[in-house]
Amino acid sequence: QGEDVLAGLSHISVNTAARNVNLYPFPSKAPNHVSEDPEEKLDSDAEYTQIQPYAGMPKEVLLLHSSKARYRVTREILFWLMVACTLALVALTVTVIALSPRCMNWWQVSPVYQVYLRSFSDSDGDGVGDLKGIQKQLDHFQYLNIKSVWVGPFYRSPMRDSGYDVEDFRAIDPLFGTMNDFEELLAKMHSVGLKLIMDFIPNHTSDRHRWFNLSRATDPHYKDYYVWSDCDGSSPRPNNWVSVFGRSAWTYDEVRGQCYLHQFLKEQPELNFRNPHVRKEMTDIIHFWLAKGVDGFRMGAVKHLLEAAHLRDEPQVDPNKAPVSWDLYHDYTISQLGLHDLLRDWRAEMEAYSREPGKYRFMVTESYDYEEVDKTMMYYGTSLVKESDFPFNFYLLDLPQNTSGLWVQHLVQLWMDNMPKGQWANWLVGNHDKPRIASSAGQTYIRVINMLLLTLPGTPTTYYGEEIGMENVNSASRDPQRSPMQWSGDMNAGFNNKTNVTWLPVHPDYRSINVEVQNSFNAVQLWRNILAPLLHRVYPPRPPLSLPGPEER
Ligand code: NOJ
Repeated sequence: QGEDVLAGLSHISVNTAARNVNLYPFPSKAPNHVSEDPEEKLDSDAEYTQIQPYAGMPKEVLLLHSSKARYRVTREILFWLMVACTLALVALTVTVIALSPRCMNWWQVSPVYQVYLRSFSDSDGDGVGDLKGIQKQLDHFQYLNIKSVWVGPFYRSPMRDSGYDVEDFRAIDPLFGTMNDFEELLAKMHSVGLKLIMDFIPNHTSDRHRWFNLSRATDPHYKDYYVWSDCDGSSPRPNNWVSVFGRSAWTYDEVRGQCYLHQFLKEQPELNFRNPHVRKEMTDIIHFWLAKGVDGFRMGAVKHLLEAAHLRDEPQVDPNKAPVSWDLYHDYTISQLGLHDLLRDWRAEMEAYSREPGKYRFMVTESYDYEEVDKTMMYYGTSLVKESDFPFNFYLLDLPQNTSGLWVQHLVQLWMDNMPKGQWANWLVGNHDKPRIASSAGQTYIRVINMLLLTLPGTPTTYYGEEIGMENVNSASRDPQRSPMQWSGDMNAGFNNKTNVTWLPVHPDYRSINVEVQNSFNAVQLWRNILAPLLHRVYPPRPPLSLPGPEER
């Protein structure tokens, strides 16, 4: 009976093996069975090759089949094909990026319109232009296809230098309105697609600034915020340095009993940028306005930011003459080592606010380096370190000296030939510091000069009123080119309509030269017609012009 049982069991096992064959289409061994015996292994390999590949086959079978030539070769072909496709795709992407014209930024697709705030539009009838006045005139920019507006200084100021003498960098002067007015203007401008560029005036403050009062009182934190040197009321000044406006650049301060330096008015003491606290203060001010949403800064008087610490006399051009500014070589008061580092640091701060699409913060620098174009070009930064988007190009201010095509060509080429590769050009023919182009070149030329300005490659900056050919008024001060905007033939040329007062006289030609008259024809139409196509232009790759240099003509 015991034998019968064993025979029965062996029968069962045979049946089970048979069932295995059905379940796993290879003979006699379980899927995970690995034989130790080499002969048995050869047998089983031979058996495996009999089996067609199937989904879910075990590793051994898979390896066996995949090493067959037809699978191996196909696999290799596919692999190298994939590598080649990936490389081709990368090469194609790089080529497309390299060859495509660069996307232009907002400051490249529209002229910049310079508003001289005191004179643009007076909303409250006190005779001085204000922030609400600008808001009233936004249609004018839209009509002209202008997208960027540079608004002159509106900081609280005693106005010894038309607002370029700042008493508080975080406050609006009541003459121009309130912080609320500013925020409203900015929001309104943004809502109609306009960008606002403001002045940043880092070189000096007003002598009424809190820092200066603390500095002259030798407050331990503020005593080195400005450039001080020993001198007394009667003895000679610390050195022969002269201010841009003439006379000594040093003024004796009775409170402190020392002299302070000022490269402009004596009411504009120079900040000491060798002091890290001063650098930090100015960076904080940049953050303050960027956080409010301003779109860019015009950084003024930048070449004056640092002076040589040794305070040695500057060499006189003619040692026998009395020292006045045009007689000195300004080796120690302008373009000093470290100046560009300051600007590059500020640029870096601005970059942090420029990351969102459409939120790029623009920086333009003001530095008159007529005789040294290389110095101007340094404000572009380097290919590795960004500085200003462009330094103002003041060379066309010389245009009226000789209104000939060759002279124009010379001035244009001066910029184009010296501009670092890959940078963006810019042009202007006037600003609040220079005589109006219509007066210096003559009305006859205003249309062609505007046309030139708008068609040169790069960003044009236009000074308010240039679009209608406004001229200088009679004024003994620095103000001839700052008279009220001529909006219409009405009282005060439409600058205000509440009083007879304007801070400077309106030009007598306002009945014929004003926006209302000229909007329907003439100069303003020229603007519209040239500007609209300009918005879509790309930077033209220009072959070098090969006309004779001015000396050969
Ligand atoms: C540059 C301004 O354009 C000019 O008007 C001013 O007098 C100087 N900075 C000094 O503040």
